[in-house]
Amino acid sequence: MTNGKDTLTIRDNRTGSEYEVDILEGDVIRAMDLRAIRVNDDDFGMMTYDPGFSNTASTRSTITYIDGSKGILEYRGYPIEQLAERSTFLEVAYLVLHGELPQASELDQFTYDIKSHTNVHENIRQVMHGFRYDAHAMSMLISSVAALGTFYPEAGQVSDPELRRLQIQRLVAKMPTLAAFAYRHHQGMPASYPNDKLSYTSNFLNMLFRVRGNQEKPNPVLEKALDVLFILHADHEQNCSTTAMRTIGSSRSDPYSALAGAMGALYGPLHGGANEAVLRMLQRIGSVDDIPDFMDGVKRKEERLMGFGHRVYKAYDPRASIIKKTASDVFEVTGKNPLLDIALELERIALNDDFFVSRNLYPNVDFYSGLIYQAMGFPVEMFPVLFAIPRTVGWLAQWQEMLEDKEQKISRPRQIFLGSERRDFVPIEKR
Ligand code: CMC
Repeated sequence: MTNGKDTLTIRDNRTGSEYEVDILEGDVIRAMDLRAIRVNDDDFGMMTYDPGFSNTASTRSTITYIDGSKGILEYRGYPIEQLAERSTFLEVAYLVLHGELPQASELDQFTYDIKSHTNVHENIRQVMHGFRYDAHAMSMLISSVAALGTFYPEAGQVSDPELRRLQIQRLVAKMPTLAAFAYRHHQGMPASYPNDKLSYTSNFLNMLFRVRGNQEKPNPVLEKALDVLFILHADHEQNCSTTAMRTIGSSRSDPYSALAGAMGALYGPLHGGANEAVLRMLQRIGSVDDIPDFMDGVKRKEERLMGFGHRVYKAYDPRASIIKKTASDVFEVTGKNPLLDIALELERIALNDDFFVSRNLYPNVDFYSGLIYQAMGFPVEMFPVLFAIPRTVGWLAQWQEMLEDKEQKISRPRQIFLGSERRDFVPIEKR
């Protein structure tokens, strides 16, 4: 119940002064309004302190909506469950980038545009060739995206909407090609090139697993499963890597550099590297009998149960529910992943254990995705790459939104300085 007055009164007990600040849509106040709160004229004014941005809105956005307490995820208003069941990745990519579902002719044009940009300059393959055989696929992908920017010097003109559209098409189109190069280099296989006659996911699978120039006809269940996984990973509002994308882009750097930075943020095990970390954790646990020991270690805080917990979701991650169902479709084709029993038992124990329940720790998107990827034949090093390909769409949509937002400025947080007071330099022989 409110009295219709959308302001907040703050009383500073140091001075007895009161301040009235506006409450804006979304139940937020402007941090800059706090600057008026000062003890005297020399005072800088009040700031907020929020490490990890747990309670700070950095932008207004119209792309992705999450209700973490109810487990709701929507792209441009469409529930993720409906998109996963009834759409395709390229249609969802159009939706995320343009704001509306495409008409048939718009989707045809978008698909054509993406397919006509799938090839990369041959020199990029040589960049890939320079990596050691055991280089991590994600590191290779990050480097090759940054290198790709050198071929498009005009990409730095980020205020030109037409040039932005072109870079977006190039990046969405070329990511699977670069990822396939990385995979095949890792496997010691010759590079394979895109085939425009295939769908986005089918072309990707074909580039990865094609042997001796033969076309690989991916199993339709596996192709659909990968397409669903791509849809689920397309965007997730202001997460760590998207914030990196927006932050780097806020200095008006080109999208290839910004995307490489976002990918670096995604790579970490607390973010998109978690799918790889989950698989390694399941392999390390080894058997259902060893789960109690492992869980005791988690509860002693010696390590984390990877694939569990989320900053925003305090209920079951809706993407994890869809992935669990997709996993059973995939396992019907590939046979059950032997690690599934360990994962299911970990989930069963965690959902009934007060340590996890009291902290709202539920499976997130990464808990089951790795099991599917492994069953489909991907090595663990490819898991973060499989996250980065579809998330490219979200990063670019968010980057574009940031550039068009008149309120956005270069990202530049404040700090609370706790270091030494000013002191005089002491020559080395007198220290
Ligand atoms: N296993 C065990 N304990 C956990 C876990 C976990 N996976 N996650 C959080 N906790 C505990 C944590 O120790 C803390 O306990 P206490 O209150 O006693 O200190 C409490 O739960 C809150 O944790 P937090 O670190 O303050 O939460 P956060 O919002 O900063 O971190 C997270 C979110 C995703 C980084 C964290 O849950 C985590 O490390 N999970 C494992 C890694 C993972 O699966 N990441 C993928 C996230 S989903 C995909 C994506 O979008 O990237």
